[in-house]
Amino acid sequence: MNHLLSIEQLDRAAIERIVAQAERFAEVSDREIKKVPALRGRMVLNLFYEASTRTRSSFELAAKRLSADVVNFAASGSSVEKGESLKDTVLTLSAHKPDAIVLRTPWVGASELVSKWCSAAIVNAGDGKHEHPTQALLDVYTLRRHIGAIDGASIWIVGDVAHSRVARSNVLAFQRMGAKVTIAGPPTLIPRGFEQLGCEVRYTLDELPSADIVYALRMQHERMSETWVPSMREYAASYQINGKRLSPHQVLMHPGPVNRGVELSGEVVDSPQAVITAQVEAGVVVRMAVLYELLAGSRDARPESQDAEPVEQAVAGGARA
Ligand code: NCD
Repeated sequence: MNHLLSIEQLDRAAIERIVAQAERFAEVSDREIKKVPALRGRMVLNLFYEASTRTRSSFELAAKRLSADVVNFAASGSSVEKGESLKDTVLTLSAHKPDAIVLRTPWVGASELVSKWCSAAIVNAGDGKHEHPTQALLDVYTLRRHIGAIDGASIWIVGDVAHSRVARSNVLAFQRMGAKVTIAGPPTLIPRGFEQLGCEVRYTLDELPSADIVYALRMQHERMSETWVPSMREYAASYQINGKRLSPHQVLMHPGPVNRGVELSGEVVDSPQAVITAQVEAGVVVRMAVLYELLAGSRDARPESQDAEPVEQAVAGGARA
């Protein structure tokens, strides 16, 4: 794997491999010294054109736990505000010779474009409403830990599918892992043709009790240029996951950030059925596994990867960091 641009590029075996590596790295997070030397001397550049709390901090932490150097770049406060283009920004920052660039932008396909402009491994941390592959991987990891096998599970993804990059990546990843996926929400927020990805589509939550896992999406106000729902109140009346709609046997997930009182009621966010904090925790080890796979694992063609250690050795070498 040279880049991680989409879930589309990963088959089930690749997803399983990354999740298995993340499981090995989970042990590092429990140590007193939370570091292994696996990517010592490598440089990871976080290039974020959009707001982020979880994704950026967990990529930074993941790179640091692998002993890589990290440079964080946020578009606000940079020359982007003076009109510098994405291409010029990438070429300028490439002069620092990053081994990996973690990229979040509001533009569909930006990661793929950037992968053609420079030699670094590109990780798509969200390209507009297209894909967010590491979110899907960390959700697969979280589910594996909470319910075991995903094969045969019924997963409902509920809410603003139209503006969500998480929806597309997760539908693909959950299906590759053998789940039956249903997307549900108001017709204005479900893009036409989405069922071509292989999922079922519902415009009401009448059949929600049949789900094993309920995955709520955030209402993406920042991507809504017109009125997509009459009001947040009306949206909540028909689609909010609350104590009445969530059955006791169901696991509740959300990528964060949550709009309490809109897509989720406060009581379900705080209930033991919610695994939202576990998802955030999973973000670090899954991103460690992705960076490791890109920079130390299968990049054999890169001369600098010759000193890469196998993952067992990298994990075992924690004491040397
Ligand atoms: C998501 C994102 O930005 O795509 N958040 C995240 O990465 N955890 C979802 C969202 O913003 O609603």
